[in-house]
Amino acid sequence: MLDRAHNRPALPPEIARRRTFAIISHPDAGKTTLTEKFLLYGGAIQMAGQVRAKGEARRTRSDFMQMEKDRGISVSASAMSFDFETFRFNLVDTPGHSDFSEDTYRTLTAVDAAIMVIDGAKGVESQTQKLFEVCRLRDLPILTFCNKMDREARDTFEIIDEIQENLAIDVTPASWPIGQGRDFLGCYDILRDRLELMDRADRNKVAETVRLDGLDDPKMADHIPPAMLAQLREEVEMARELMPAFDRQALLDGTLTPIWFGSAINSFGVRELMDGIGRYGPEPQPQKAEPRQIAPEEEKVTGFVFKVQANMDPKHRDRVAFVRMASGHFKRGMKLTHVRSKKPMAISNPVLFLASDRELAEEAWAGDIMGIPNHGQLRIGDTLTEGEALRVAGIPSFAPELLQNCRAGDPMKAKHLDKALMQFAEEGAAKVFRPMLGSGFIVGVVGALQFEVLASRIELEYGLPVRFEPSQFTSARWVSGPADATDRFVQANKGHIARDNDDDIVYLTRLQWDIDRVARDHPDVRLTATKEMM
Ligand code: G4P
Repeated sequence: MLDRAHNRPALPPEIARRRTFAIISHPDAGKTTLTEKFLLYGGAIQMAGQVRAKGEARRTRSDFMQMEKDRGISVSASAMSFDFETFRFNLVDTPGHSDFSEDTYRTLTAVDAAIMVIDGAKGVESQTQKLFEVCRLRDLPILTFCNKMDREARDTFEIIDEIQENLAIDVTPASWPIGQGRDFLGCYDILRDRLELMDRADRNKVAETVRLDGLDDPKMADHIPPAMLAQLREEVEMARELMPAFDRQALLDGTLTPIWFGSAINSFGVRELMDGIGRYGPEPQPQKAEPRQIAPEEEKVTGFVFKVQANMDPKHRDRVAFVRMASGHFKRGMKLTHVRSKKPMAISNPVLFLASDRELAEEAWAGDIMGIPNHGQLRIGDTLTEGEALRVAGIPSFAPELLQNCRAGDPMKAKHLDKALMQFAEEGAAKVFRPMLGSGFIVGVVGALQFEVLASRIELEYGLPVRFEPSQFTSARWVSGPADATDRFVQANKGHIARDNDDDIVYLTRLQWDIDRVARDHPDVRLTATKEMM
């Protein structure tokens, strides 16, 4: 486990003020609305409509096509940087569709914290739970926002209990709601001893703040009817007895999540949450790498690619590699070493996703997300350094759970299909296997929706209609081991062998029995369901 905050040296101020995070939620809980409000408070108001366009666009397949047309928008929304108070926030978008994909997992390797948004009436939903589990694998600090308190919501204690029980994490209230639904007045800010009052008349209005001197402050009665005030005092007292107090170290260790209540659409509770992210959220953290960990304060620049997006502009076939800066102070024009190929790369036109536009990045610090346009040299998992042979670890590639054969609608165009599929494989959108015997491709994905999305994109971006058909195989495993043993294995199983887009050997099968048999007959050969990208 990474050591967060304990015994860490003070970071240079430009790095210390950065907060790099993602939002995790179940569809419809309010992620898009919350993002819009973040940007509103972050001074990037013109962006708000664009995020909305994306939020709506991703819901169905036909809308997905529209999103593809508006790809510029979806891409700039993949990483957004904005200032709030003295902080620089880098918000990395997790893919929207509900099919869990490894893209999501990799996005979460690029952030230092996650904001979990839940709907006050629905509590912890399936997708929240899945994404939470991924965060837990990395002990990511999590801050929780309970949204839609302006509607009928569950009882506050019940919501907190559900999070504690379903997700096995301690919860501490950072604020406490006063009433709910039609009677929702606002929140008592437990961490700062303030009353925040929601203005129902104006959705974009910042809440009125009343500074207090404890829960018994007589000013409370000027704003809250007696019965509700009595209830608030009783509930907060009970909460203080029953729930752990806020503890920053526990938050940073990923064992405690503070929860804020609010209503994103009414801009309520959002500033308090942002303030919490700034004040208590983690600074850029050390990055696991081989042969040594990278610390953000190191003077030399390092970064790693966690996402590749291709065909942002179909006319140019350019790609943007999204790079999380792991250390140092990057300046435009720097020459970095592309560790995988050992080649130098001049980074002359990097992009920061500030406010509404892609802007040329003159500089970037550890914690920032930078886009590097390239022609395919940069792949997911690649590390960039000032010369040292470091490789960032822990960016996995999972064996696909669904396999299908892919054929070009027009056999004359099979070559183009090769190119298209390779590109999607490099983007991490699918696994593409070339069988050792016979022709054609086998494409593997994690969620069924991805086949449809791929077919649409191949047609849209390459003008190439394709067919996906059932494959005789259902599982894929990467093959490793001593060269002579793997050779023997490959020769004995030609009909089951393929190569992936990195030219690594893959064993395709439909039976667990086959996999067990390999373990018996070829003890030196290892079959694995994940491989680390490097
Ligand atoms: P998502 O990105 O997590 O999928 O959620 P999104 O922000 O798109 O919000 C889902 C729906 O919930 C939207 O309604 C949005 O307006 C609504 N919503 C978000 N925050 C709040 C809130 O604090 N209170 C209430 N009452 N509703 C909220 P929609 O009808 O799907 O879209 P729209 O017609 O409002 O755009």
